Amino acid sequence: MTWNQLFERAFIPYSKNANACIIQGASGKNYVGVRVENLSFPLTVSAIQAACCFCLASNDEPKVLITHGKPLEQQSFWVTEFDLEIKIVDDLTNIELFDDIVSELAQEVSYTLKGLLSNAKTMHSDFPVSSLIKTENGWISGVNIEVSDWSRGLCAERVAISKAFALGYTQFKEIYVHTLKGEVSSPCGACRQVIHQHMAKKSIHMYHADDTISTHAISDLLPFNFTSNTLSS
Ligand code: THU
Repeated sequence: MTWNQLFERAFIPYSKNANACIIQGASGKNYVGVRVENLSFPLTVSAIQAACCFCLASNDEPKVLITHGKPLEQQSFWVTEFDLEIKIVDDLTNIELFDDIVSELAQEVSYTLKGLLSNAKTMHSDFPVSSLIKTENGWISGVNIEVSDWSRGLCAERVAISKAFALGYTQFKEIYVHTLKGEVSSPCGACRQVIHQHMAKKSIHMYHADDTISTHAISDLLPFNFTSNTLSS
């Protein structure tokens, strides 16, 4: 694996400005993050945000930032938040990345979603959310991550989507979402925008707290969605 190969995983149709980094957790596992832009620019996930959320969603603690040395958007926030050691590394040959995808779920979807809830980091809300994305290569999970700055955490759906890009999986077939605390398990407006960008023609399965499930066309969740072919950076 080289930095250039990781840069290629970034979703950067607007800026063409790829970025990637790796967070090593206390466990020694290496979590990759890449920049994932959105049509609505402020919804863009930075590489270090994605990597830290991936690490935290895996019940690990961010310890080391492994970087190429060029500036990373939001670097100072995340380095301070977790008191990260910074290692500038040119050669990634000996760094094994944690590839958190499973070809088959060990349990059925509802149990998997329920089990994931305990990985959520909800220091402000006490409102755990879990999500699964089915890709052509298997299943990728996400839970919501909150950090000291409320605006820098990520929803479960966006943790799953940013993990998928970082791991190099981009063919999204279905998305699942679950919370035990909401009256319905329905993605927020920001997540609808991000989900719509990557899988507008696919379906979402909402696993509600009362054990009912509803399935919806993602296009139905975001009527009159924001779109433009004239964005430049
Ligand atoms: N949350 C999600 O994870 N997904 C959504 O679609 C709605 C909100 C999380 C974010 C935050 O950690 C908590 O729920 C309260 O907003």
